[in-house]
Amino acid sequence: MVSFKLLSLAALASAVTAQNATLRYMPFGDSITEIICWRSKLWNKLQSTEWKSVDFVGSGKTENNCKDTKYDRDNEGHSGFLAIDIANKKQLDGWLQKNPADVITMHLGTNDIVQQNKAVADIIKAFTTLVGTMRTSNPKMKIVVAQIIPLGMGNYNSKIQELNKAIPTWAQGLNATESPIWVVDQYTGFSGSADNRDGVHPNDAGDTKMANIWYPAVVRAFEAAKADKVAAAAEAEKREVKFIA
Ligand SMILES: *[C@@H]1O[C@H](CO)[C@@H](O)[C@H](O)[C@H]1NC(C)=O
Ligand SMILES: *[C@@H]1O[C@H](CO)[C@@H](O)[C@H](O)[C@H]1NC(C)=O
Repeated sequence: MVSFKLLSLAALASAVTAQNATLRYMPFGDSITEIICWRSKLWNKLQSTEWKSVDFVGSGKTENNCKDTKYDRDNEGHSGFLAIDIANKKQLDGWLQKNPADVITMHLGTNDIVQQNKAVADIIKAFTTLVGTMRTSNPKMKIVVAQIIPLGMGNYNSKIQELNKAIPTWAQGLNATESPIWVVDQYTGFSGSADNRDGVHPNDAGDTKMANIWYPAVVRAFEAAKADKVAAAAEAEKREVKFIA
């Protein structure tokens, strides 16, 4: 009798933990992830769903006049940073050590192109390093990579399009069942002039467009990450049952 009671309590506890297991999501990138309001819009869009308790994580908490006191501001957006530098300096390694994640979004490459006219092949190489870091931190990391938004200043969009064109093939080559990479297109339908407030960073219309593109991709990623946790809890439960029996 006693062992029966123990068994059902253990099973119940595992089931509750699995359902409740808080997912951690890191928005990762440059200023287009840091000093924007798409994170606020994305967080708010999630509040009417089963994903409302997803914990946004990262070392940054900058307020960006989003007129939103409620949203989870934690993020790993670093204004002015190049993908190539983040990869070479192994910065993401430390960021993920401090704030581990189940799901990560990456919008990077703009500064590599604008500041230093880096070759697309070298940016892609940095992306490969960064995905390696994500998977070292969490072999089951669910990864969403953006084809980046156009700019409304300078002459950078052909290079941006060149990078964007390389991303899907690159992502396919690195795709893994345990740690899928999903590519989202933040370029198409986004106007570098009308949807940016300063030629580079989205205005309200641009933030809305970006949040709407991220949304289905992060939800798919949350579903996959939750499935992992439910499976892990079921495994733990099996072990407990064995132990009690
Ligand atoms: C459920 O998650 C919340 C945080 O989101 C935590 O405070 C609470 O203790 C958790 N409950 C269980 C039963 O794991
Ligand atoms: C990676 O695999 C997942 C399925 O696990 C698929 O949904 C996704 O589209 C693939 N990514 C790429 C870039 O092909």
